[in-house]
Amino acid sequence: MARFTLPRDLYHGKGSLESLKNLKGKKAIVCVGGGSMKRFGFLDRAVDYLKEAGMEVKIFDGIEPDPSVETVMRGAEVMLEFQPDWIVAMGGGSPIDAAKAMWIKYEYPDCTFEDMCKVFGIPSLRKKAQFCAIPSTSGTATEVTAFSIITDYSKGIKYPIADFEITPDVAIVDPDLAETMPQKLVAHTGMDALTHSIEAFVSTANCDYTDALAIHSIELIQDNLIKSYNGDMAKRDTMHNAQCLAGMAFSNALLGIVHSMAHKTGAAFADKGAHIIHGAANAMYLPKVIKFNSKDETAKKRYGIIADYMKLGGKTDDEKVDLLIKYICSMNDALNIPQCIKNYGADSYPTDNGFVSEEVFLERLPEIAKNAIGDACTGSNPRQPSQEEMEKLLKCCYYDTEVDF
Ligand SMILES: NC(=O)c1ccc[n+]([C@@H]2O[C@H](COP(=O)([O-])OP(=O)(O)OC[C@H]3O[C@@H](n4cnc5c(N)ncnc54)[C@H](O)[C@@H]3O)[C@@H](O)[C@H]2O)c1
Ligand SMILES: [Zn+2]
Repeated sequence: MARFTLPRDLYHGKGSLESLKNLKGKKAIVCVGGGSMKRFGFLDRAVDYLKEAGMEVKIFDGIEPDPSVETVMRGAEVMLEFQPDWIVAMGGGSPIDAAKAMWIKYEYPDCTFEDMCKVFGIPSLRKKAQFCAIPSTSGTATEVTAFSIITDYSKGIKYPIADFEITPDVAIVDPDLAETMPQKLVAHTGMDALTHSIEAFVSTANCDYTDALAIHSIELIQDNLIKSYNGDMAKRDTMHNAQCLAGMAFSNALLGIVHSMAHKTGAAFADKGAHIIHGAANAMYLPKVIKFNSKDETAKKRYGIIADYMKLGGKTDDEKVDLLIKYICSMNDALNIPQCIKNYGADSYPTDNGFVSEEVFLERLPEIAKNAIGDACTGSNPRQPSQEEMEKLLKCCYYDTEVDF
């Protein structure tokens, strides 16, 4: 038996933010990030709509990118004091993910962060509040997923919280919010979305329901991402739907080791002055992982199907895999994303002198590889890597060398 879970309601299309007026309740807390939602007027509009719905509204702002355990605990305290019956999270993946984890702690104040990280181990929520998510980036699709990614900075590790309990009740996918994204954010979040749909399609937990969503989102991303990056707002609007479809696919089919590696490298070099941004990490690792996974016959066939839908040509599955890899690398070039960690600058752009030195990378490699194998996304990857293979794979992602094992 398999389960397929999505939010109860999804409002989409330009202006759909207004559907906040439909929420029924007494008190809403609005969780946002560092200021973009306020700056562009979306926060004020959301607050007004909620007030029109007759609710008392409190704002919890300042949620940082790649939110920390401490921020989650702080937000939960505020919720415990305010006692909202709606949690409305608006912004990129970071504030929405943080609000999901705050929700768990609000409903179960004794729940520790370690408790939250037990995969599919969250007790029943919705005793105190329902959850509405409004994305402003076109990538994580956290508005429809059963996941929340929180960083433990004391360990430099991102932990996924995974349970259908945290799939939001309402998602509002209004492309107006995505139109203010700077170019770099379009690139990173868009490649995150592509990775979601490709990993979901080859995941061992794929099914007919998730395949349809994954394939259609891949086609939409192929047709729209680069044009959206270059400023075409109609394409930007379509990307907002595409990333959401990818999210519906991966929330139910799960992901693979591209994400395991991105989670475990993202903050691993934070002491050297930067993060490897989630979407950029995925974009660099995806071609390498496709090559690694294609040693598995079923995965190879499935990559071939993706290449066919993308009309990339090729006669054999091996040819199709290579064409798919080439195509993804060309997308990285078009989006100004490096092909490997060695060339990843502190500003995320390609450079000859990346911020992660070879020495530091090699020193931390065994630990990162071990953590990546232990990541919750590894279980559904079509090929299970050994410690040695994961280290080799990460080295290929560092040096941009051929995966031949
Ligand atoms: N929950 C999931 O299923 C899931 C899936 C993938 C990734 N993630 C996590 O999500 C996080 C990344 O989220 P993200 O990529 O959406 O970015 P983000 O939320 O971290 O935001 C990045 C920056 O973009 C700004 N921003 C957001 N929307 C904007 C807009 N419309 N206009 C201008 N600026 C805007 C923010 O203020 C912030 O400074 C990571 O922690 C990642 O691990 C979660
Ligand atoms: Zn992702």
